[in-house]
Amino acid sequence: MKRNSLVRSLVFCVLGGLVAWTALPSSIVFAEKTQKITKPLEKAFPHSEKCKRCHLRVFEEWEASAQSRSIVSAAFRVTLDQYLLSVPESEQSMCFRCHAPHILEYGHQTKMFIDEVKSKDPQIDGVGCSQCHLIKDVDPKTHPPHPTYQLEKTVFGGYKKPAKNLAHQSEVSALYKKSQYCVTCHDSLPQEAKSEQLPNWMGNWKESKAEKSGKTCQSCHMPGAFGESANGERNRKVANHSFPGRFGKVRAKAIDLDFTTEVNGEKSKTDVTIQSLVPHNLPMPHPGWYRVVVDLTVLGKNLKKVHSEQRFYERVYGDKDGNKTVLDFKAAEVLTDTLLKPEEKRIESFTFPTPKNAPSMDVIVTLTYAPIHGPEEFLKAVANESGLGQKDRAFQPVEVVKKKNNIILKK
Ligand code: HEC
Ligand code: HEC
Ligand code: HEC
Ligand code: HEC
Ligand code: HEC
Repeated sequence: MKRNSLVRSLVFCVLGGLVAWTALPSSIVFAEKTQKITKPLEKAFPHSEKCKRCHLRVFEEWEASAQSRSIVSAAFRVTLDQYLLSVPESEQSMCFRCHAPHILEYGHQTKMFIDEVKSKDPQIDGVGCSQCHLIKDVDPKTHPPHPTYQLEKTVFGGYKKPAKNLAHQSEVSALYKKSQYCVTCHDSLPQEAKSEQLPNWMGNWKESKAEKSGKTCQSCHMPGAFGESANGERNRKVANHSFPGRFGKVRAKAIDLDFTTEVNGEKSKTDVTIQSLVPHNLPMPHPGWYRVVVDLTVLGKNLKKVHSEQRFYERVYGDKDGNKTVLDFKAAEVLTDTLLKPEEKRIESFTFPTPKNAPSMDVIVTLTYAPIHGPEEFLKAVANESGLGQKDRAFQPVEVVKKKNNIILKK
């Protein structure tokens, strides 16, 4: 008797908040999209904290990822604000379609989503466990194709034979192993019909060598390892959930960089070969200020800097009046596009004066994700909003690759 009730309370403990989620009849869930969903949001999309109890490893990786911060950065709050000023109420949910995609089911609560973001400490997830694992399919009719949800007690994933557990049912879905799953949120901004003519963010990833040879987004950005998928379960193949990108280990495999320098008397010339190993544009042009800087620096006598030159890999958008803008939701056209295309090899030539009276010179080439840029007021707004000022992540450059050659100079 005693033992039984102990077991029962244990089971109850384990289920915790999830019990309400799993116990709901599915009829409510199948309500037409045109009807408002009646299930409370936190029941339909349990918070990631609810999954942490059994999926500690995954949770900790995810918590360190950019995806877990998708509605909390100062840059996001400031750009969202700007966006909201420029659109009618009916379009206010747009940014959330990817940054907190459960809005696809809870569009009638857009104001709540906005208020949560403004609070700076949102109690709802952005791109959390449920927002990804309740994705049943992708709707190809929307631009861009967006995820569709099945809000029942089933989570979807890549395992053919998931172990049973008390909190949820599991179902394998081939979608989770495909690039299309990720691309729904990574390819282009849904905007008015006109802007559908703007090029996508990723470039022609479908034709890349990586994609054609079966290397999906997951294979680079959710690298596999061997470990516990849920606490205490047997070890099996698991997928890293820290989503390395601009931060994290994948960066080392982004670019092959090589260069040669030719000294012709007073002038020298460096040819830099930049081979992208990435099957999509680098960088991605959303938000509109993302860019990579190629920097050539020459050090002469006593390592004094004698020359420095920069080139930008970026997509510069023009608004409806043709003015440059870093706010891509205002984009009506592309003014210039120097993004490194999927797997592109590019040669950059730099000519500079040979340092005088120096026995040798150092030529240093770096590729770096640049800090946020744009009109001064915009940058001030982000720094103020942050609480960290210029120390905010948005203002930190991130080095991708750096190489130095020492060249002996004849007297
Ligand atoms: C529901 C929409 C959504 C889906 C699906 C999605 N992502 Fe993301 N992802 C985002 C958002 C939003 C961010 C940006 C978060 C931030 O920094 O504010 C992001 C960030 C990232 C980053 C970090 C980017 C950087 O600058 O370092 C990587 C890498 C990434 N996602 C890879 C993936 C992969 C791989 C998949 C498929 C398994 C995927 N994403 C699926 C919305 C999504
Ligand atoms: C189609 C999906 C999608 C839509 C719609 C979208 N974003 Fe993003 N957003 C992303 C992804 C994916 C990233 C990560 C980009 C990367 O690192 O390559 C991102 C990154 C960002 C970032 C930089 C990371 C951060 O959090 O500081 C900001 C700011 C941002 N988005 C703002 C917005 C705003 C404002 C809107 C609406 C006007 C919007 N986004 C609409 C998918 C989207
Ligand atoms: C951006 C979407 C995304 C987010 C956010 C996300 N996952 Fe996943 N998850 C995936 C994909 C895709 C796979 C399948 C990867 C594969 O098989 O290559 C996966 C695999 C898994 C697996 C099985 C493999 C493993 O690594 O253990 C578990 C369990 C899991 N996720 C739980 C979670 C939990 C818990 C969270 C929140 C802390 C979460 N996921 C957040 C997309 C996501
Ligand atoms: C009571 C513990 C428990 C809780 C709470 C829990 N899970 Fe699980 N989950 C498991 C176990 C056990 C497995 C099976 C792992 C295996 O087969 O290796 C699993 C498997 C999974 C898988 C893999 C499914 C597949 O077919 O690939 C995903 C995805 C997943 N859980 C997501 C979640 C999400 C999202 C939440 C929160 C909403 C959550 N889990 C909450 C115990 C739990
Ligand atoms: C062959 C490996 C590989 C594959 C496959 C791949 N990527 Fe990447 N991706 C990278 C590398 C490497 C970087 C890091 C670039 C850097 O930091 O310089 C990157 C960067 C990113 C970023 C960071 C944002 C930026 O502006 O650079 C996002 C987001 C991203 N990838 C999404 C995707 C998506 C979505 C897919 C699937 C269509 C995908 N990637 C497929 C290697 C890959």
